[in-house]
Amino acid sequence: MLIKKPSDIPSSEITPKPSYLSRRKFMAGAIAAGAALAGGFYLREHMDSEATVQAAGVKLSGIVKSPFSTSETPNSFKDITNYNNYYEFSTDKYEPNGLSKDFRTRPWTVSIEGMVKKPKKLDIDTILKLSPLEERIYRHRCVEGWSMVIPWVGIPLSALIKQAEPLPSAKFVAFQTISAPDQMPNQKRDVLDWPYVEGLRMDEAMHPLAILAVGLYDEVLPNVDGAPLRLVVPWKYGFKSIKAIVKISFTDSMPPTTWNRMAANEYGFYSNVNPQKDHPRWSQASERRIGEFRKRPTLMFNGYADQVAGLYSGLDLNKNY
Ligand code: MTE
Repeated sequence: MLIKKPSDIPSSEITPKPSYLSRRKFMAGAIAAGAALAGGFYLREHMDSEATVQAAGVKLSGIVKSPFSTSETPNSFKDITNYNNYYEFSTDKYEPNGLSKDFRTRPWTVSIEGMVKKPKKLDIDTILKLSPLEERIYRHRCVEGWSMVIPWVGIPLSALIKQAEPLPSAKFVAFQTISAPDQMPNQKRDVLDWPYVEGLRMDEAMHPLAILAVGLYDEVLPNVDGAPLRLVVPWKYGFKSIKAIVKISFTDSMPPTTWNRMAANEYGFYSNVNPQKDHPRWSQASERRIGEFRKRPTLMFNGYADQVAGLYSGLDLNKNY
């Protein structure tokens, strides 16, 4: 999902096609080039161990295990914090860890607004106490074709939503990342439309698998993974899992999402992991687990079909990608 300013893209990385005339379409070409590169890469040997040590912060206590966890072996803390998409910091997956280490996550307030009975501004430390912290070991499938297994710590998204008492007219939930160009270097640049935004249908948001992550491997969430609060929707491609959330709003119409704005023909609103629906320019049938050499088949809804397929009965997943 690499996007760079067209001027940053070496000609060897991309072959513009005649149809890629507008900025948006040109950038969509860059996404494909990035995916091709990402598919063949592995973690560099020389990762930023100093930044990792700093990110491996305070231990979280009172974490309960969740029946929703996979029994697959999680990727290492080092993998999970050194191969990241966090475009506010860099489009290079190895850079966000180092570049985000001084990002300020306190004080932090999340505004809950829109079609709710009780709009609120909640402090992050209040949010942490809304529900017991659960360890959720989830598969994480990036749209670019790589995957990991990540032991998140979080609370059900539904626990936060219930606080606000959404009105019956609220059909969607919209999420927004912080605007902090002083701290996030790429927010000063024309890399994506800032701030990063995402959305879910209300029933998706209330599904027990959808969580707000506040930790990783028993510790406070590293900045690079979206501290202090980040969405995790494990049956969807990773880009739905928006980081550093400051606003959650309820609406009756489908909210805009960053990647759909950038390339609507490639990234739909739903973004469910679907091995049968190719990305316009690459297959989604298989994935490479970071740390492995062989490719493995991608599972429908990323392996969570038993729990979530019912949300989409009657919906044409070919059209609603
Ligand atoms: N959220 C914000 N604000 N900015 C981003 O660039 N990248 C998305 C998603 N959330 C992104 C974001 C993408 S493309 C992916 S795959 C996941 O975060 C990566 O999460 P990870 O770095 O914790 O693996």
